[in-house]
Amino acid sequence: MSLVLFFFGPFFFKASHPPSRQRRLFVSVMDAIGPKRDNPPFREKSLFMTAKIIDGKALADAVRAELAEKVAALKATQGITPCLAVILVGADPASSVYVRNKVAACEKAGFRSIKEVYPADVEPIVVLGKIAELNADPDVHGILVQLPLPRQFDTEAVLEAIVPEKDVDGFHAENVGALMQCNPRFIPCTPYGVMKMLESAKVPLKGAEAVIVGRSNIVGKPMAMLLLAQSCTVTVCHSQSKDLAFHTKRADILVAAVGRAKMITGDMIKPGATVIDVGINRTADGKLCGDVDFESAKEVAGAITPVPGGVGPMTITMLLANTLESAERTLK
Ligand code: GUN
Repeated sequence: MSLVLFFFGPFFFKASHPPSRQRRLFVSVMDAIGPKRDNPPFREKSLFMTAKIIDGKALADAVRAELAEKVAALKATQGITPCLAVILVGADPASSVYVRNKVAACEKAGFRSIKEVYPADVEPIVVLGKIAELNADPDVHGILVQLPLPRQFDTEAVLEAIVPEKDVDGFHAENVGALMQCNPRFIPCTPYGVMKMLESAKVPLKGAEAVIVGRSNIVGKPMAMLLLAQSCTVTVCHSQSKDLAFHTKRADILVAAVGRAKMITGDMIKPGATVIDVGINRTADGKLCGDVDFESAKEVAGAITPVPGGVGPMTITMLLANTLESAERTLK
């Protein structure tokens, strides 16, 4: 087996990896047949490769530093401070943390932020009234209503109430349609962040098999549109998909966005694939984890995003980018 890999391993991996990774895989195969070959755990690991980590936190820090410079310039030259208004209804712990992080990120990068918090039993008309007020305020450039909303709300009606020009989430029907037509006004923040991560990791997209697990309006569907626009062959899987592993094992790029802890395991991943984990879940012992079982996946994947420190920081970063973009458009 070792000899076979020595001769054919580099050729086997050649098709799906750029040169630097080929080299690393080759070294890995050499390791497997080297002095430690009698050590089964070592050999088992080395037949594949410990994946490159796509560090979303580092990328987010770099992009946010650039955004902060642009914000400072906009203030200095035009007297405009980009402003994001965030509306939170209820006290869902996860939503409260997300909103707190969004507001903190605004402040750190020099944006102004407005945070409106309502009790879970608020009448929808009260929230709609606030949205109308924010729509009319020329000093507010982005409006975001944290989802999910309590039962008494018609979520679609709330999202449609935000003027499309301030819909920095990209959830308004007009903006969803514009994205489908490859003419986006605002790209939804999570898939936008994922695209930036793929770009920074230099993942080839043209002709790649991209499989998305999850069909939500927030992630799965816009993710499909963005990958399709980059000429990937896109498959969207969901809770009713038959033989999920059949699909995921074909993926050069696998995006997990189902909201089920560690659902995607290493045996469901094509060797060398890029694995993007959008999930944020908690294990029984309270630890954060993604939709991907990181420990088994990293032994098979070519590149992988961690949780935490992967997609999450990039989502907030792209929200800032959209808000800045909205503020800049007021000058045009
Ligand atoms: N809830 C989970 N993700 C998001 C998001 O990207 N935007 C909003 N508004 N709510 C969310």
